[in-house]
Amino acid sequence: MKHNISTDCIHAGEDRVKPHDSITTPIFQSATFVFNNSEDIRRYTQKEHFRYEYGRYGNPTQRAAEKKLAILGGAESAVLFASGMSAIINTLLAVLKAGDHMIITDDAYGKTLAFVKSWLPNWGINTTIVKMDDYNAIEKAIKHNTRMFFSESPTNPYLNIMDFSKLRDIKSRHPEILVISDSTFATPYNQKPLELGADIVIHSATKYLSGHNDILAGVVLGSEKLVEEIVGFQKIMGGVIDPHCAYLLIRGLKTFSVRMERLNSSGEKVARWLESHPKIRRCYYPSLESHPHHDVAKREMNGYGAVSTFELEGDLEDSNRLLDNLKLCYIGPSLGGCETLITHPATVTYYNCTREERYELGILDNLFRLSVGLEDPEDIIADLDQAIKAVFK
Ligand SMILES: Cc1ncc(COP(=O)(O)O)c(C=O)c1O
Repeated sequence: MKHNISTDCIHAGEDRVKPHDSITTPIFQSATFVFNNSEDIRRYTQKEHFRYEYGRYGNPTQRAAEKKLAILGGAESAVLFASGMSAIINTLLAVLKAGDHMIITDDAYGKTLAFVKSWLPNWGINTTIVKMDDYNAIEKAIKHNTRMFFSESPTNPYLNIMDFSKLRDIKSRHPEILVISDSTFATPYNQKPLELGADIVIHSATKYLSGHNDILAGVVLGSEKLVEEIVGFQKIMGGVIDPHCAYLLIRGLKTFSVRMERLNSSGEKVARWLESHPKIRRCYYPSLESHPHHDVAKREMNGYGAVSTFELEGDLEDSNRLLDNLKLCYIGPSLGGCETLITHPATVTYYNCTREERYELGILDNLFRLSVGLEDPEDIIADLDQAIKAVFK
């Protein structure tokens, strides 16, 4: 029977009757699964009977989480990894071969860009980096050996939005190219890229999916055939999720739709407050009419998440003072958890770049990324308000 997303968050992927009639899927904290006799081995190797063998090849807790995520993302299949980066790298290495070419958008996650720039060429795979919303440049970059187009949406830190209708158009002329979307910022609550034309979707499940800032995990969603290819590579590469983490992910997913409903609404409320504040020069959030991709977001997304990016009316010193005066919001990387987190990319992520290098990438001295958490939005606003007042007193 088909259910709505909140019901799927609770029940999908998990067996109705679990060991010892437990209501929760247990943590199978086991690295190996034993055979009872030679007949057991025969039936397993002849594929007459599905069972587990060794932790790197799968685990029942992991499997339940994967089935839940596949249903939430509208995918045939899913595979979990130890982190979002592990999911991304395993996917690229499983799909690409020496001599292949890929295209990636310029505001993809920094470590993904670092991998394709600094490591993929070692395996004879070259990459063209194109501007996120330049669809002519994307099509022009396609060569005879282009195998993959990799993008993210929304992106970090400016929350740029991919126009999937334009991508579908390009793909209609180049059906051989795999479209991969890192949908960490969107989540399956706000967008299902597989339904919009992507072949593979990747999430850092460290963020909204697990939702509690307490695990690292990554997931790849796609057709059975593609996921099987990636699983084949994972069986060799490793990078598997630990069973306890898989359990915490299932636990986090139970409240995923409730959290997202609240995070979407709080994210918007705080973004609108920031936009109207006289000491905030600019706020980027896709539901704001001022966002350059507002129309695409409205057309293709069901909600916009809890991350907004803003420029303070001030310099680097003022920006440091803002951080120093926060009393509720935590200062730190990541997003999508219960606690509101603020990052100052200029002094954290890009601390070893010169000011010129940072400005080239749009990382201004006064730029902040805010991941609104599950606290009362009025309390988050009050904290930001008192910190801004302290900067300019
Ligand atoms: C968009 C995006 N993709 C991938 C990753 C990597 O995920 P993880 O930290 O789980 O390895 C991140 C991490 O911040 C991210 O923001």
